[in-house]
Amino acid sequence: MSPKRVIKIGGSLLFEGEDINTKKINEFCSIIRKRDDILAVICGGGAIARKYIQALRDFGVNEAKCDVMGIYISRLNAKLIIEGLKDDAYPLVPESIEDLSRNLLFNKIFVLGGLQPGQSTTSVAFEVSEFLNANELLILTDVEGIFDKDPKNNSDAKKFDELSIEKLQNLIVDSSSKTQAAAGEYRIFDAVSLQILKRSKIKVRIFSGTNLNLLKKVLDEKISNVGTIINSK
Ligand code: UTP
Repeated sequence: MSPKRVIKIGGSLLFEGEDINTKKINEFCSIIRKRDDILAVICGGGAIARKYIQALRDFGVNEAKCDVMGIYISRLNAKLIIEGLKDDAYPLVPESIEDLSRNLLFNKIFVLGGLQPGQSTTSVAFEVSEFLNANELLILTDVEGIFDKDPKNNSDAKKFDELSIEKLQNLIVDSSSKTQAAAGEYRIFDAVSLQILKRSKIKVRIFSGTNLNLLKKVLDEKISNVGTIINSK
């Protein structure tokens, strides 16, 4: 039996500058349609969410309200994917974990954005993976995996092929800054994601979604040495 999978797609992959990258969204949807291993897709907020959050901050709005704005934007992104998936997707964006159980019998791919303040959409991906008993969570981002420092600002950054939970935890603590727990600023792995990973022991792979051929190969199990695997054993 093929493993059951959840995919998180970073908001950065859905946009090209200010424009919605419809070509990419179409390509993503055609890869995951008509497969029986995809349980759910979680969409990130991306730069557009951060813009809206910044606008609220400029009005002096609190962080919880900024988070809610991020949730709205990620749900809009989820709606784009739902329409791209056509009949393969459950037509509404679930707004709670309980929405999933109510609608499980439809046997469609769930597409979600955020759920509640104080976390990232990566945490949603973990919550959904645990709840649906997925075997694997694939996190698509705009870099090749998890690095020892930000690869966008450090040309000598080194990618980890595999990371234990302990190492990951140390990395998160090391890289934490004052803004890490602010709306729009939760990093690739936030504290909630880590806690759920610890107890669910789900298999996680983080890799680049810039070239979606890679996703296809990973899903078809044609390559294994890609991105960063979190070893939770
Ligand atoms: P993301 O987690 O998607 O942030 O949600 P991001 O940095 O844009 O991630 P990528 O690049 O797309 O993967 C955007 C914001 O929405 C709020 C947070 O403020 C988050 O930073 N949010 C999201 C929540 O408060 N709760 C959620 O469950 C999800």
